[in-house]
Amino acid sequence: MAEEKILEAEEALQVQYDDEAEKQKYLEAKKARAEEDFKKPFDPNALLEVRHLRKAFPLKKTITGKVLQELVAVDDVSFKLHAGETIGIVGESGCGKTTMGRTILKLHPSNGGQIIFNGEDITNYKTKQMREIRKKMQIIFQDPYSSLPPRSTVGGILSEPVNVHKIVPKAEVKDYVLDLMDKCGLRDYYYERYPHEFSGGQRQRICIARALSVNPQLVVCDEPVSALDVSIQAQIINLLKELQESMNLAYLFISHDLSVVKFISDKIGVMYLGSMVEFGSKHDIFANPLHPYTKALFSAIPNPNPDIKMNRIPLTGDIPSPANPPKGCRFHTRCPYAKEICKHITPEYKEYEPGHFAACHLLEGN
Ligand SMILES: Nc1ncnc2c1ncn2[C@@H]1O[C@H](COP(=O)(O)OP(=O)(O)O)[C@@H](O)[C@H]1O
Ligand code: SF4
Ligand SMILES: [Mg+2]
Repeated sequence: MAEEKILEAEEALQVQYDDEAEKQKYLEAKKARAEEDFKKPFDPNALLEVRHLRKAFPLKKTITGKVLQELVAVDDVSFKLHAGETIGIVGESGCGKTTMGRTILKLHPSNGGQIIFNGEDITNYKTKQMREIRKKMQIIFQDPYSSLPPRSTVGGILSEPVNVHKIVPKAEVKDYVLDLMDKCGLRDYYYERYPHEFSGGQRQRICIARALSVNPQLVVCDEPVSALDVSIQAQIINLLKELQESMNLAYLFISHDLSVVKFISDKIGVMYLGSMVEFGSKHDIFANPLHPYTKALFSAIPNPNPDIKMNRIPLTGDIPSPANPPKGCRFHTRCPYAKEICKHITPEYKEYEPGHFAACHLLEGN
């Protein structure tokens, strides 16, 4: 077993780690890998390709603007999303899911990496260049209460993006909006009503209709059902699934609710403290989770069948601050399998079976 091998190797060698040297070695290797990947041609089959994405928020600056301390909210994240596909992004609160979604949509400037949309490198696009692309990438937020303007009618809210992006001729806007409302399960007389007249579920339908009004190809769904009653959640998820099929939408579906993610996703990415620690097809991630963090997250899902004994891994301890993440493997402070090496050397994110990636020392040499 890899775990025993690591222990034996460490004992035999009486390994002494020089943390500063290891950090330098890791950063250089990471840079070299990224540079190698940046030279590769874009995948013509991917709608969205994210390569080594980085987003850091400055925490402390000198008067001249030099950053003294930063919080790396998204660190070296790479994946591909295809048309009509859903990638679920899971991880505890604060692990960088929202920041990643917003950075991909260029609502936050990135600090490294590449964002390729429809074969076009949009990483450094400015507002003007983003205008045409903006309508192809939409977002649905968690809170349907604060994300709708209170003083506009539903008709007004849904007509605005259609007019701005000239989706249909002016004379056809109302019919277009009514048709969209019908697709999203909104009655036609809602057209004259105001957001405050509706429940959370209906408001989220309005938000979905607004996002889809401009015919997007990609929708970032950031915890779209977390604020809703459990009874309403399934209706909204089913609506998103139906609309995905009829409009061939790709979803980046962010949620901390694993059962929702399991239902809607084709592929799943697991994030911890800004990094993707595991990525793969839904089947591989659930049938054969590789990373101890993924296993621990899944252990927390209640098992409805008492006959199936689960090998539960407790997820103990607090999440460390992303402003000051642990050295080596960031999960080592909470990992039940952590070895000495984990405290000093960051494991490389590697493909362990086709399309199934993870970053953990225990997997190396298997
Ligand atoms: N505008 C910001 N300025 C500074 N730190 C931020 C900002 N937005 C998010 N963060 C920090 O980035 C980390 C990731 O946050 P977020 O992306 O919201 O995580 P999640 O969506 O997974 O809960 C958190 O530590 C959060 O405090
Ligand atoms: S590399 Fe990280 S996840 Fe893997 S055993 Fe070590 S501490 Fe745990
Ligand atoms: Mg969030």
